[in-house]
Amino acid sequence: MTYPGVFITFEGPEGSGKTTHLRALAAFLRAQGYPVLTTHEPGGTPIGQRIRQILLDPSLGVLTPRAEVLLFLADRAQHVAQRIVPALEAGQVVLCDRYADSTLAYQGYGHRQWPLDTLRDLIHFATQGLWPDRTFLLDVPPEVGLTRQGEAPDRIEQRTLDFHRRVREGYRALAQAEPARWVLLDATQPWDAVQEQLRAHTLALLRTRFPQPPASARRG
Ligand SMILES: Nc1ncnc2c1ncn2[C@@H]1O[C@H](COP(=O)(O)OP(=O)(O)OP(=O)(O)O)[C@@H](O)[C@H]1O
Ligand SMILES: [Mg+2]
Repeated sequence: MTYPGVFITFEGPEGSGKTTHLRALAAFLRAQGYPVLTTHEPGGTPIGQRIRQILLDPSLGVLTPRAEVLLFLADRAQHVAQRIVPALEAGQVVLCDRYADSTLAYQGYGHRQWPLDTLRDLIHFATQGLWPDRTFLLDVPPEVGLTRQGEAPDRIEQRTLDFHRRVREGYRALAQAEPARWVLLDATQPWDAVQEQLRAHTLALLRTRFPQPPASARRG
């Protein structure tokens, strides 16, 4: 299924710069006249926000891994149906902070509890087969990403460094396996340099998808 809009996701380990870069790219694209929706997982809908609270609250005790992956997927199913697909149908540029590849990288490569094919089947069920047009991998070693985090570690960040290394390698393997969708960026570079590359890649993609420049750009 193709939509008039464009679906772009941001992936990478903790502290790689997903949220700050997504916000800056959204502001840049809006200034260019593109209609942009920014969103994130988990918690991109009101129901998803409740699910996110469960996922990230260490005080609730041990969340069993099967329940964890199903909660992430419940959040995603709601998010796709309620927010992402309607925006794509309306022709918007959807910038999403984490999506299905996070499930493969964390639950698949990080925990190594299920084969990737099992996870892909579950993801397909949750998303009805919606994959991004482009995925940016902000690649950093976990030592760098985790030291950029200022706040107390949440449930996920408390996991071992080995877990985070597997997540990073998982992301790199996913990007390598599907180079037409992924753009791998070295996120140890200065923030401005990374943002510059994100803008260039995104504008090139949008020019192929929107034959006419956006209205405000035509006026200017
Ligand atoms: N290339 C960079 N160089 C230096 N600092 C950076 C760079 N990229 C991001 N940072 C800083 O690292 C911190 C974490 O960035 P950000 O919150 O965007 O990461 P994130 O990938 O969204 O993390 P999380 O997975 O925890 O949500 C921020 O303070 C940000 O300014
Ligand atoms: Mg973030």
